Amino acid sequence: MANTRHFLTLLDFSPSELQQLIQRAIEMKREHRAGTDQRAFPGTVLAMIFAKSSTRTRVSFEAGIAQLGGQAMFLSPQDTQLGRGEPIEDSARVISSMVDIVVIRTFGHDIVQRFAAHSSVPVINALTDSYHPCQLLADMQTWIEHRGDCAGKRVCWVGDGNNMCQSYINAARQFDFELRIACPPGFEPDSALLQANRDRVSIEHDPAVAAQGADLVVTDVWASMGQEAEQLERARLFAPYQVNAELMSRAASDALYMHCLPAHRGEEISAELMDAPDTVIWEEAENRLHAQKALMETLLLLNRS
Ligand code: CP
Ligand code: NVA
Repeated sequence: MANTRHFLTLLDFSPSELQQLIQRAIEMKREHRAGTDQRAFPGTVLAMIFAKSSTRTRVSFEAGIAQLGGQAMFLSPQDTQLGRGEPIEDSARVISSMVDIVVIRTFGHDIVQRFAAHSSVPVINALTDSYHPCQLLADMQTWIEHRGDCAGKRVCWVGDGNNMCQSYINAARQFDFELRIACPPGFEPDSALLQANRDRVSIEHDPAVAAQGADLVVTDVWASMGQEAEQLERARLFAPYQVNAELMSRAASDALYMHCLPAHRGEEISAELMDAPDTVIWEEAENRLHAQKALMETLLLLNRS
């Protein structure tokens, strides 16, 4: 409802709120590793509505709420009335009257917006066709842990102008870095989003040029969930857009590379980089847990006051 804070994109939090959230995630990770009891929210119920597959997001939210003292309820559209056409708005009113926080992974971004507009409790976007802001919290946490403040730095996105790429555009704005996007022609992110961020975001179709001097190189699958039928055609068009050692040699000498996972070794990223002993990709995945615990804590506290 009107005053409820949600997390549908990175723009729902101010830059300083995001910085605080990342610092809290780093602290909660330390506490978790030290075995500190973090059950500050006993009795809290998290509803998780997933219309698409997930490993990391589901496990991190379920483990995260349990570690905060609460409990998760997994709701698949096939088993609920959502799958039989009950309006999103009605579902939102009912579900939010019974739980404390809602996580949704779905197709159209308008679905999470409509749900949030009719929800009396915070709604978290766990991935839509347009954005994946929770992944960006983990990516930014990982980058800051390894390299400190990211303001003024340069990120190179290699691949599809998809939900992850569009979330990096929002991150460039909120965390104050430059973003160079290397995508095949025809696979650019949303033009209005690009236009709104053209002071810091640019398109460069040649990945070797885009990666020049980058502090962070990021990629993702070439065909996202829902685009399975395009997989073969995309594999052909995206072949020159692999993140590998040759591409990384153009980036800054201490550049990191990230991938939200799941990954296809030998497609968007080389097996050599995926399996490198010093890759931060596994920590990036683990940080989903810590960043989302900090996110849930923040939203629960904001909506309590
Ligand atoms: N990166 C990510 O969101 O992974 P899952 O699809 O496994 O949740
Ligand atoms: N772009 C990918 C991200 C998966 C975490 C997808 O939407 O399938």
